[in-house]
Amino acid sequence: MNPTNRILMCAPDHFNVAYVINPWMKGNVACCDPVLAMRQWQELARAIGRVASVETVRGGESVPDMVFTANAGLVLGQKVVLSHFRHPERQAEEALFADWFALHGLEVEQLPGDMYFEGAGDALLDRSAPVLWLGFGHRSDAACAPLLAQSLQIEVQGLRLVNPHFYHLDTCFCPLDGGFLLYHPEAFDAAARKIIAARVPASRRIAVDAADAAAFACNAVSIGRHVFLNAASDKLLAALQAHGYQVHVTPLSEFMKAGGAAKCLTLKLDEPGQSQWPAPAWEEARETAGTAV
Ligand code: ARG
Repeated sequence: MNPTNRILMCAPDHFNVAYVINPWMKGNVACCDPVLAMRQWQELARAIGRVASVETVRGGESVPDMVFTANAGLVLGQKVVLSHFRHPERQAEEALFADWFALHGLEVEQLPGDMYFEGAGDALLDRSAPVLWLGFGHRSDAACAPLLAQSLQIEVQGLRLVNPHFYHLDTCFCPLDGGFLLYHPEAFDAAARKIIAARVPASRRIAVDAADAAAFACNAVSIGRHVFLNAASDKLLAALQAHGYQVHVTPLSEFMKAGGAAKCLTLKLDEPGQSQWPAPAWEEARETAGTAV
């Protein structure tokens, strides 16, 4: 286990589908099995706990979606940019997450109050260049981009999301440690696809088809060469394995009913700040050793 990989999770003690704010929740209100949800969450936490240190924040009774800690904010270095949720149903989570961050020594920053930003659900660090990808069009505002760039001193590339089923960037886009990108091209508009193609070479893009995307295969937790996800077809598993990734499949059916899976249930607490941009260690080792990727 690499102790520098720290992941924040929130146990599903109060998890439920209590309202509908994305298409996956439709028809699923009050349909979650709490025992199964707890078992699935523990399985994911246990699997991640083998390669990273898992920390937890306590949920609250009136905030059933708080299990999706990816939406708490975006951590870079010692700073966290706190989320401001578009839907009032989730806004009470903001103060709870802010308290946890402050208590754990992070400098909590807020964007202007009229701006919606849903944290690491929509803002994902590239793994091979100091670029922050920002998904907008459903939850976070495109206008966050220059403010995030200024505050975090990092280049921000906005990507417009066009399919309501893929309403957060992390539902359809996952930069993998080592420089590959797992993504579902159809979730993006033409301009976004062009930006992706210009920044990530074709040999490093792993396009995920509609069936795998609907099983939230892109909603993957990437820690070193380990990839944790809800489900993946044999074809996708083989593609990931061929590039050197070790895939851990941990079924998360109960959380899918709320429109979330593995990545949504986690928040990286150790993302490097501007001055600490690292070389992707294991990938470099593979390349120096002459291993084809
Ligand atoms: N029900 C939650 C919502 O609609 C799910 C959040 C999933 N989180 C994520 N990072 N994609 O806000």
